Amino acid sequence: MAFSTKNLSLPLILFMLLAWGDCTVVRISNDIGQGTNLMVHCKSGDDDLGKHVISYGGEWAFTFLNNWRPWGSTTLFYCSFSWGREFRRFDIYNATRDFDCFECKWSITPDGPCTDMFVPDVYRFCYPWD
Ligand SMILES: *[C@@H]1O[C@H](CO)[C@@H](O)[C@H](O)[C@H]1NC(C)=O
Repeated sequence: MAFSTKNLSLPLILFMLLAWGDCTVVRISNDIGQGTNLMVHCKSGDDDLGKHVISYGGEWAFTFLNNWRPWGSTTLFYCSFSWGREFRRFDIYNATRDFDCFECKWSITPDGPCTDMFVPDVYRFCYPWD
């Protein structure tokens, strides 16, 4: 069968446009404290990534396709974190805040999630818990 752009229907072109995106990885590491396991449960509007246990110093990561939209991506992944008797939550990926990160590394500390910034200099920035 011959293939030419004449065969590309409008719905297909729209689909290709909407499916265009970047693969983003979010890495979550346990910096809570020696010997303390961290329980992580992340979700988005469409996905439940399940519960994961990260041992101290360990890491758990997930990847997703960050869809490009002319009006801006609205991808949001929110997580709950628990250790000992503590329970906290944080938006681990918010497209408005994290548009410039394709490998988002988070170090989870008792005081909040920390990430390395590179502008204007490399420094560690810690967010308060939500
Ligand atoms: C995402 O982050 C932006 C900028 O910090 C904030 O204004 C917005 O409310 C956040 N979105 C959600 C759904 O929390």
